[in-house]
Formats: sequence, structure tokens, C-alpha cells
Amino acid sequence: MKVKNLRCEYLKNPLGIDVANPRLTWSLESETPGTSILMSRVVSGTDRGSVLKGEGYIQTFGTVSSSGNMIKYSGPPLEPFTRYYWSVSVMDENGKWSGWSSPSYFETGMMQQDNWKGMWITDTHDFNLKPAPYFRKEFTLDKEIKSARVYIAAAGLFELSVNGERVGNHRLDPMYTRFDRRNLYVTHDITDYLKRGKNVIGILLGNGWYNHQSSAVWYFDKAPWRARPKFCLDLRVTGQDDSKLIISSGPDWQTSLSPVVFNSIYTAEHYDSRLEQAGWDTPGFDAKEWKKAVPAGAPSQNIVAQTLHPVRNVREIRAKSMKRLNNSTWLFDFGRNMSGVVRLEVSGPAGTEIRLKHSERLDEEGFADMSNIEIHYRPVDSSDPFQTDIFILKGEGEEEFMPRFNYKGFQYVEITADKPVKLKEESLIAYFMHSDVPSTGRIRSSNPVLDKIWEASNASYLSNLFGYPTDCPQREKNGWTGDAHISIETGLYNFDGITVYEKWLADHRDEQQPNGVLPAIIPSNGWGYHWANGPDWTSTIAIIPWNIYLFYGDSHLLELCYESIKKYVDYIDEISPSGLTDWGLGDWVPVKSVTPKEFTSTAYFYVDAVIMAKAAKLFGKWDDYNKYTTLSEKIKRAFNDKYFDSGKGIYGNGLQTELSVALHWGLVPEEYKAIVAENLAKRVEADNKHIDVGLLGSKTLLNALSDNGYAGLAYEVASQETFPSWGWWIVNGATTFYENWPLDASKDISMNHIMFGEINAWYYKALGGIFPDEKQPGFKNVILKPNFVGGLDEFEAEYDGIFGKILSSWKKSAGVISYNVVIPPNSTATLFLSEVVEITEGNRPIPENPFIEIKYRDNNKICLLLKSGRYNFKVMQNN
Ligand code: BGC
Repeated sequence: MKVKNLRCEYLKNPLGIDVANPRLTWSLESETPGTSILMSRVVSGTDRGSVLKGEGYIQTFGTVSSSGNMIKYSGPPLEPFTRYYWSVSVMDENGKWSGWSSPSYFETGMMQQDNWKGMWITDTHDFNLKPAPYFRKEFTLDKEIKSARVYIAAAGLFELSVNGERVGNHRLDPMYTRFDRRNLYVTHDITDYLKRGKNVIGILLGNGWYNHQSSAVWYFDKAPWRARPKFCLDLRVTGQDDSKLIISSGPDWQTSLSPVVFNSIYTAEHYDSRLEQAGWDTPGFDAKEWKKAVPAGAPSQNIVAQTLHPVRNVREIRAKSMKRLNNSTWLFDFGRNMSGVVRLEVSGPAGTEIRLKHSERLDEEGFADMSNIEIHYRPVDSSDPFQTDIFILKGEGEEEFMPRFNYKGFQYVEITADKPVKLKEESLIAYFMHSDVPSTGRIRSSNPVLDKIWEASNASYLSNLFGYPTDCPQREKNGWTGDAHISIETGLYNFDGITVYEKWLADHRDEQQPNGVLPAIIPSNGWGYHWANGPDWTSTIAIIPWNIYLFYGDSHLLELCYESIKKYVDYIDEISPSGLTDWGLGDWVPVKSVTPKEFTSTAYFYVDAVIMAKAAKLFGKWDDYNKYTTLSEKIKRAFNDKYFDSGKGIYGNGLQTELSVALHWGLVPEEYKAIVAENLAKRVEADNKHIDVGLLGSKTLLNALSDNGYAGLAYEVASQETFPSWGWWIVNGATTFYENWPLDASKDISMNHIMFGEINAWYYKALGGIFPDEKQPGFKNVILKPNFVGGLDEFEAEYDGIFGKILSSWKKSAGVISYNVVIPPNSTATLFLSEVVEITEGNRPIPENPFIEIKYRDNNKICLLLKSGRYNFKVMQNN
């Protein structure tokens, strides 16, 4: 048995950990079926050699009291700026301890605010000044260096260089927070960048969301926190002789304006190469003309470590084609929609102005068309064109440009140059940028459109992940709450997103008003507290921590959010004495039918009250448990009294959204579920097996069908290729998900929205049948309920959970289904199959496999308990 994938706070060997009791997780690898762990132990300490031998602080625990592969460090108080090694050993069923795993480490950061030595500094310019500032600090190291760490917090964005070399490959650090409440700092190991003798640290500051100079309908240019960007930095150097030296930001740093003459996270970046100062961040540079930096107050008193997978240029994408449209205009097509930037290599005369216009569409003449995404932009003049970088050449051979402090949503880039330049297809390269979260899931099937829907929704999910989930990467870049909770399962099946969501829920807590109200977009400048922030959107506060708990088996986030969920639910309760609420936006962007807002908002109020009651139970808060159980029952009663016709088994007008919302969110009384599901199936048949839902119904429709015996029908709906359907987008060339169903809609027409993305999670759930088990979350026990639906010959879902890889894969041939399952060590599964006529495993009768227990076999329904291992079932079903 091998212990692998050791992570601290869900990151591999992280630097700058700031929490007193970091979470340590790992997974196991074993070829032996039925592997389970009796006890686990973790050793930690500052000396690698000792940890390797199992010497240090030891925490031992049995699996009964925990999910098994996770522990919170509880040893001696952690010192700041210190590397801790840790290793794991586990005891198998026979009471035998494994050897210690090869050690992993984490390094603490500031741990306490007062460990910061640096001052927040900026330059003397007004926040309206456009050029971005450089800062530099030259210093001498007179010893050989053992190690060096930079801790840097910024309000705005920064790029750090040392001795002329850019440090690391993160983009757009630090991630966006509500700057006047919480600021993030980033830690880098710069040991290899420094040398004995003279060194220079260089900083280029960008505006980001802190100093929003572009104006749009949300008024980020009027944000209360807005100011000239600033930063605070500590460099801590340890010499070979263990001497310590700290270099900090302060008024002795020098500053000057840079060639980045304009930068806006929202629109674009402008760069004038003629203003470059060669060697500005290297020793010996003549900085006589530079000014002194000036101290500035800290943006907030809460400076915390950025414990996240960073944004990166994750994928390089080459142009599919380049067309010359006229003497001065070229059109590059990257063949797919994405979020990110382009890098241009070009030569031309000094002063040549090159414009790079990014769009998702082309107009009839083949030029970039931004009419679908620039509608909320309110430019005050023509100096800041939307999604258009401006690059001015210095005229010295091949020059290169890639924006530093901006990203866009695009497939096409139209380049214009005001003087003759030479361009080839290779001159422009695109980079798909997003939070670089590891992939955790894969779908593969015999239906190529299904596979493309899965890919396109993942592309939209990632295009909308920049340290917070956004709605779209072009028109808004806003952290729309509704879009994010609808797509939470799609996110979590496919990507290891916990770090981003934990950060974003801290943003929620920063934004919550004392009365419990949250804004519709998070982070917010104040916009969204009075519109669109009802429970159908901002239930993120409950739904996201609950899903993190289900997927990771880790209640930390739920615990952190507990009081906030409570305040939020109490607020809705206070304004909704009847138990019904119409606070919200309703079934946003519907195909045609409109469900009353009160219907869907009350359903989400119910969802929140239920999550609240479950969380209260989990944490042993029995008064709360009783209170929110009673509240949820009251909401359910009010909802059913008003909307349910029990004689007919119909909710409201019997629309797809109405019936499926009631079923999916558990509002239908048990004894009526079958008739409501049947009515939903009839409704869907009457709608020609096509969707008639908006955002909220898109979450529930397919699930309500497949969870209630209509998986085949759900698949027929999900695999449509005519309007309205996800397949309709794909067969018309979509590479990302759209914001609206018709291709020729006149509003809500971004081409890169994740909000209709639930179908992707539905593949894992309904076809693969992989569900977390609420009683043993984190896939400690996997619920397996695959549906071998008609019309699909082959399907495979794979999910890398906390315990390891889970596989659910089936293939039909000659009436027999070959069903392969993999359950990772130290976890189990409960497999449910129906319509089973005959079943074997490994070509033997089920009872012959010692790792399978038959829980029940009832007519043709069967329930099997599986221990960890690999299984090959052969199933014959009734049709
Ligand atoms: C966003 C949506 C969002 C909606 C709510 C739109 O502008 O792009 O995705 O949820 O507003 O009002």
C-alpha cells in the first residue's frame, strides 16, 4: 500500500500557510481489493531527516472518528516563516503499519499581522493617471544565500521581478477581494534569483479591480476602496550561516512610470515600447530620474495568505487561420472560445500603433464584432476601446507584447496597424487563462456530441474561474452568485476547486451586511445589494459550503459559514412571515415558459433552511436543528398549500421548471413523488422532448427525471441536437456554453457563460451514477446508480476524489452490459441497479465475490455493497 498525493490545505508543498491548524490530506494506492484502514498517523516536524524516520510530533487516529484520509494539524503552535515536514503511515485491516510515506512539506507565512515589517507604498500620482508604476529596490547581500522568500501583498495587481527576471508564472496576482475588508498576499521562493553582491527587486503595479479606470454599468470606477495601486513587501533572506536579513518596502524604494501606459482588468492594456527603460530591475541601473516611493495606508487591516491554485496561462493555443482583410487589417481565428490573452510578435517602424481587438463573433464582412459583449460598457471617450489592446512599437526588430493586467473573452483577434507591418499565422499565440485548478473528472462516451457538450461546459467553467467564479469573461467578469451555485457540482466533479471556493466564501463573509443580506455579485463595490440578490442567487452562502462538504468530506468551510448562513436564512424568514418569498430573479433566460418568481425563490429559501438544519445537526447545535427543521417544514407547507394540486399531482401550471424544482429540491410529499414525476415526464413529452426551462429549471429538469425513474427520457432531452438544447449549440459550432438558447437572440448573448452548465454534472450523476453519500461524505462511501440509457452504447465517468480514482464505465453489446467499477482504497460503494434480470461479477455469481455483499435483491432491483477494488459486472436488463 502506498500513501501518495500528500497535500496541505489542498495544495502540494504550499508556501505561506497562515492557519494555526492546517488540514493535511492524502490518498492511498493499493492493488489489493477490499483495502481499508484501521488507523492512520501523521508525523510532523521541522527536520526532514527525523520525519523520514517517523520522529517528531505524532497524531494518531482511528477511521471511526474521521473521514480517514484527512487530519487537522494539532501539534505545537506553528512558528511563522518555517518549513514543516510531514509524513503519513497507515494501519491495514491486519493491524500492520505501513512505512512512513516520503515526506511532504508546508511552509508557514506571516501567521500574524504584526510580523509584517514593510510599509504599504505607492507613488505620488492621482488614481486617474493611466500609466502603471514601477518600483525598485537595490540592495547588497554580503553572504552566500541559503534561502529567500518574498511575501507581497498588493491592492491592485503586481508583477515581481528579481535581477531582471520575472518571478514565477502566476498571472493577475493577487486574486480579487473586497479590498477594504481583506487583502491577499503571495509568497514566492526567490532563492535562485538572488546572488551574493548587488541585487534588485522590481515591482510593476497594475490596477485590477482596485483602481478601475474604465466605466460600466456597475460603477467599479466609483468603488469606495478606489485608489492608486499600492503594495507591501518583505523579503526574508537566510544566509548559509543562518543569518537573517529582511528587506522591506518603504520610502527608500524608487518609483517611475512604466511603458504600460494604460491597464484595465475590464477592457484592455496599452503598451508603449518607446517608454521602456532597459535594465530598470537590474543592479547598476541609473535611476537618478526616479522618485521616492511614498508610504500609503494599508487598504485593510486583514492581510491574509493567498492559499490558492493561481491563475496561469494554462494552455497555449495556435491560430487556426489568419486572413488579411485589407492593407492594414488581419483576422486571426483561434478556432475556439476562451478567456485569456494573446502574445504578439511583430516588427515595424517606431511609433507604429497596433490594435488587437478581441471578439467572440465576426460581422458579415468578417471583422471582429463585439456587439454582443460591449453593451454594458460606458466609455467616457475613445481612449479605452473595449477588449482592444494597443501596442506601440519602438522600431527595433522583433518586438513582443502580451498584456500583464488584463484578460478577455474571445475566439477572434482582429489586428490593425497604422504603418506597414509583417504578420504571419505564428505571430499571434493565444493563452487560455484561468485559475489553474487540477482536473479531477473525465467523461467519455459513444456520443460525440455528448463529449463535446462536456468539453464546452468545462471550457466555460474554466473561462469563468479567476480566483472567484464569474458569469462571463468578456462583458462582465462579475462574481454572479446564481451562476456559481448552479454550476457548483459541474465544477467539483471536474476540478479540484476547493481552494477557490473557500476563498470566495470568505469574500461572501466580507460582504454580508449585519442584517444578513448579501450582494448578487461577489466581490462587490456596493452594487447588487438591492437587485438580483434573493435566495435564488445568493444561496451560494449555503449551497457551496454544503457541496464542498459532500465532495471533500471536510466540514471546515461549512463551519466557517455557519453563522452567515443562519443570518441569511433568518433575514429571509423575517421578510417572509408566510414562508413564501418572491425575492429574486426567477427562472432567468427561459426558453419560453415563465415560472413565478415566488415559486423558485421559496424553493431556494427551503433549500437553505434544510442545509441550515443539516449543518446544525452535524455540529451538534440542537436548538438550531429544531428551529430550522421547523422552519423548513413551514416553508414546505406554505409552498405546497399555494402551488400543489394534489388531486392532479401538478405544481403551478405544470411547467417543466415548476415540476422539476419541486421534485429536485425535495418539496414534493413522498407519496406524491411518483405522480408528479409522471406528470413531468408527460410535460416533457408534450414539449417534444425538448427543454422549456431557464437557469433554475436547467439545474433541476434532467435530475428530477433521472432520479425518479425517467433517466431514458432525460437522456433523450439531454442529447437533442435541435433547438432548444445544448446539442443545438454544439452542432452549430459552440466550443463554450452560451448565455441564451436561440442562436439569434437579441439580448443576454454572451457566448461564454457557465450558467447552463449543470448538464455536465448530470452526466456523472445520472449516466455514471457517481454520487457522494451524505452519510459518509467525501466519497468515503460512493453511491453508484448508473443508468444504461437507451440510445447510448458506451459511457464512462471517472472522478478523482479525496480517496482516489472512482470509475463507472459501461458498454453494451448483444444485450449484455459490461459494467466496470473502480472504488479506491479505504472507501466503499453502494451500487443500485434496477431492471436486472441477470448479473455476474468477474464471470461468477455475485455471492462468490468476497468483496461484495448483497444488501437486497427485490424482484429486479438489486443493491450491492462493494469494498474497494475493481469490478467487472455483466448485467442483463429488462427493457
Ligand atoms: C449575468 C448573469 C447573471 C444575471 C443575473 C447577467 O448579466 O451575466 O449570468 O446571473 O445577470 O441578473
